[in-house]
Amino acid sequence: MPVIEVTDLVKEYVIVKKERGLRGALKGLFFPEKTNVRGVDGISFSIERGEIVGYIGPNGAGKSTTIKMLTGILHPTDGTIRVCGVSPQADRKAVVRKLGVVFGQRTQLYWDLRLGESFELLKRIYQIDDQTFEDNMKVLTEVLRLDQFIDTPVRQLSLGQRMRGDLAAAMLHSPDVLFLDEPTIGLDAEAKRAIRGFIQEMNRTRGITVILTTHDLDDVEELCSRLIIVNHGKVVEDGPIDELIGKLTPKRLLVVDLQRPCADVEHASAQIIKQDGLRLWYQFEKARITAAELIADLSQKLPIQDLSVQEPDIEDAIREVYATT
Ligand SMILES: Nc1ncnc2c1ncn2[C@@H]1O[C@H](COP(=O)(O)OP(=O)(O)O)[C@@H](O)[C@H]1O
Ligand SMILES: [Mg+2]
Repeated sequence: MPVIEVTDLVKEYVIVKKERGLRGALKGLFFPEKTNVRGVDGISFSIERGEIVGYIGPNGAGKSTTIKMLTGILHPTDGTIRVCGVSPQADRKAVVRKLGVVFGQRTQLYWDLRLGESFELLKRIYQIDDQTFEDNMKVLTEVLRLDQFIDTPVRQLSLGQRMRGDLAAAMLHSPDVLFLDEPTIGLDAEAKRAIRGFIQEMNRTRGITVILTTHDLDDVEELCSRLIIVNHGKVVEDGPIDELIGKLTPKRLLVVDLQRPCADVEHASAQIIKQDGLRLWYQFEKARITAAELIADLSQKLPIQDLSVQEPDIEDAIREVYATT
């Protein structure tokens, strides 16, 4: 049985726009004008236990709306959802016990409490038994290295520490499924590494199923075995990551600063898409030439002052895919 099964899911939002009467007796009065917008427009997929799935798409694609329905926060307009065999709409409590949720831009910790006290409070709220709590705290403290800041008030935590705290909070009740909405947003490289390591560890040791939304292609490449790509409320791609990633990230940019003007700056496998004084932008396809090869070639013939490779983020990559299809 799949852990998550979604069939023909639809969510319509009613948007109320107020129009002002323009004439006569109606002048100055407001008339509500309602329109329906489909945030999710007929989505189906199923996810097996132990999968780490990237649920990605441009802004406004319907990712958060889907996750809110899966976690029982929003009611679908149409379609069915089963999480561990249960409908979140019919039995939200049963489903919530199976789920851990982290929204990168929000926290479920308590600003005024120390991190450890936040966990104690969540234990009581979620009625987690002593043994489960103790066992989980031990593992989570170790994997997320919480001991360095377990006695720090939540408001004083760095963003990376807070995110580690939030991941721990989501895992305290031993969920089967973890929903992560932008878990690495705004974090430095080291904090990202810690969080990715944690997700992999929980997946490997506990078989936890993970659904992840992110803008970070490195998250996707390092973590996900499968991608579901959504756009305009519909699934547009669903498959193994190796098949999709090449499609998603065909193009990268190398930015080169020269020491002095040069005549012959062309390269056979890269296209110069912009030039500004001594700065050149080379666009190249990962499948044709690697960044290292391109840099080696160019530095042989050009006096290079400085260079950097620009990786596209998910949104750039997806935009690129849809611009060409
Ligand atoms: N509360 C809401 N009221 C009206 N429209 C909404 C609401 N939430 C989301 N939408 C619309 O639904 C679509 C999908 O939004 P969302 O699920 O937040 O996308 P994503 O998370 O992929 O950026 C967008 O067009 C958005 O404007
Ligand atoms: Mg969103």
